[in-house]
Amino acid sequence: MQFKTFGLSNTENMFNGAMRRHFAIPAFNAYNMETVQSIVSAARLSKSPVIIAISESALKYMGDDMLMGIIGGLKITPNEQIALHLDHGSSIESCMHAINIGFSSVMLDFSKRDIDENITATANIVRYAHARDVSVESELGILSGIEDETTYSTESAYTDPDMAKQFVDETGTDSLAVAIGTSHGAYKRKSADEKLRFDILDNIQNKIPTTPLVLHGASSIPTDLINNINKFGGKLHNAMGIDVAQLEFAATKTNICKINIDSDLRLCFTSAVRETLATHPEIFNPREYLSPARDCIRDMCIFQIRTIFHSNDKI
Ligand code: G3H
Ligand code: 13P
Ligand code: ZN
Repeated sequence: MQFKTFGLSNTENMFNGAMRRHFAIPAFNAYNMETVQSIVSAARLSKSPVIIAISESALKYMGDDMLMGIIGGLKITPNEQIALHLDHGSSIESCMHAINIGFSSVMLDFSKRDIDENITATANIVRYAHARDVSVESELGILSGIEDETTYSTESAYTDPDMAKQFVDETGTDSLAVAIGTSHGAYKRKSADEKLRFDILDNIQNKIPTTPLVLHGASSIPTDLINNINKFGGKLHNAMGIDVAQLEFAATKTNICKINIDSDLRLCFTSAVRETLATHPEIFNPREYLSPARDCIRDMCIFQIRTIFHSNDKI
């Protein structure tokens, strides 16, 4: 089914607006009804465009029909800008499948493949997607530490600016995820001195000045959430995210048009559930601990929309 029947948007107008008005579109990862509700409530309350990012594993967890039922239940109106995006699609088939069930944007992540294979596959999915008005994101460079929450990221293959130009020219991708020092998960840095490589980003932007760029692995891993999780029985030691000031800079002063946040939402959820169960041991109705989790994510997304993305009041 086509994405427009759900009231969804592709990312074209979103990225045009973000480029022109110097803000970034939040891409928050969802994996159930509560996370979709939190993300969309935050966007609606902030009048912000938003991208609901669904990983392949999240799609498998929910099931196609259940996810699209939830999206249908949002009753998206024509004056909203909400995209449904496949995050880190691992194959052409997976991207085509997402497009066919109603996604408005897909990422084909062949960043670990050889450049020629990445170009050929991306050009193929671009053709398929564009024929259906769907947007395509691709990636060059390696973000280390993917979801390995027990070890720090140790190496990063930064995006090569010349390769980025060749890649964009030959594939026609709508946006490009770049590796400039971020990584996935809750253990991104060993020390506060580790900074993003804005010098590399500058070189990339000089080569492809009109291409919207994407920052993955951009959770800031708020200390209060980590402390609260640990206070109520969790064991997340030495977690550290990306510096908020650098994220804000990326969102407002560079061609980064989309910033991906997943781990921060997971922390909200876990913090709220742990606290509620620990402080109210008599509770056994899941709604009583899922509601605070949902509220925590919504409020954090609103906060980040205003302080990092500056995408509020842009609809
Ligand atoms: O970038 C990856 C996301 O954090 C998704 O992770 O496959 O565990 O849903 P997941
Ligand atoms: P985080 O693990 O930093 O939230 O990254 C999320 C992400 O890049 C999803 O694609
Ligand atoms: Zn990612």
